[in-house]
Amino acid sequence: MQKKRSVGLRDLQELSKTFPGVHIVTLDVDNEQSVSSALQEVASIVGNEGLNCLINNAAIGNTTDLNTVTPEAMMKSFQVNTVAPLFVTKAFLPLLQMAAARSSGMGIHRAAVINVSSILGSITHNWAEGANFKSYAYRTSKAALNMVTRCLAADLGSDGILCMSLHPGWVRTDMGGPLADLSVQESVSALLSVLSALSEKDHGGFKDFRGNVLPW
Ligand SMILES: NC(=O)c1ccc[n+]([C@@H]2O[C@H](COP(=O)([O-])OP(=O)(O)OC[C@H]3O[C@@H](n4cnc5c(N)ncnc54)[C@H](OP(=O)(O)O)[C@@H]3O)[C@@H](O)[C@H]2O)c1
Repeated sequence: MQKKRSVGLRDLQELSKTFPGVHIVTLDVDNEQSVSSALQEVASIVGNEGLNCLINNAAIGNTTDLNTVTPEAMMKSFQVNTVAPLFVTKAFLPLLQMAAARSSGMGIHRAAVINVSSILGSITHNWAEGANFKSYAYRTSKAALNMVTRCLAADLGSDGILCMSLHPGWVRTDMGGPLADLSVQESVSALLSVLSALSEKDHGGFKDFRGNVLPW
């Protein structure tokens, strides 16, 4: 799903011309009306098959150290990076449950919620060298997103819906900047390998793009 003003829209439009299975759905995750419209649109695309995989990817990043952090930066990050993935998931739950009811086992062949998190949300990692990147707002919102993942996993496991947090690596995007380790293509192909191999043992977990388990 794609937000209106994204710079990647033209690329998506090209893809959807080549692959008729690619549908572009406008979504502002921070807007209830937009989430509801996107749900209707996706429901009409997937029909009785339901939705096999919801990836909560949208987020905002920022560097807010102890001097520069503001209540507004904290609340905005929490709203987009933590609250929105929970409520988008709640909205799309009927479609995920529909897909889960048609299959067995656990994985994206059945139904899954993937929260794109970050190693910066790891409380364990935020120490010594790992604490060099300062962002109270971003780090806190991703740590809270990881808790959302665990809460969802506890609630949705019995429906056969796999829930996990995934760290995409440090990627050369607007957020990651030009010095990051990975191109978008490298990160996405690694993430796709991890996604396709997910099974019951990953439910409620936190992994990186190489499939390594990360500490909470
Ligand atoms: N890049 C990294 O190194 C890195 C590392 C760890 C984790 N991550 C995570 O990976 C995910 C993707 O990040 P990225 O690097 O691609 O970041 P990015 O370059 O800043 O892109 C963020 C995306 O989120 C969208 N977005 C922001 N607010 C939204 C909203 N309210 N509704 C819908 N879409 C919204 C943006 O859409 P617009 O362009 O339309 O605003 C944009 O497409 C995020 O969850 C991020 O936290 C990234």
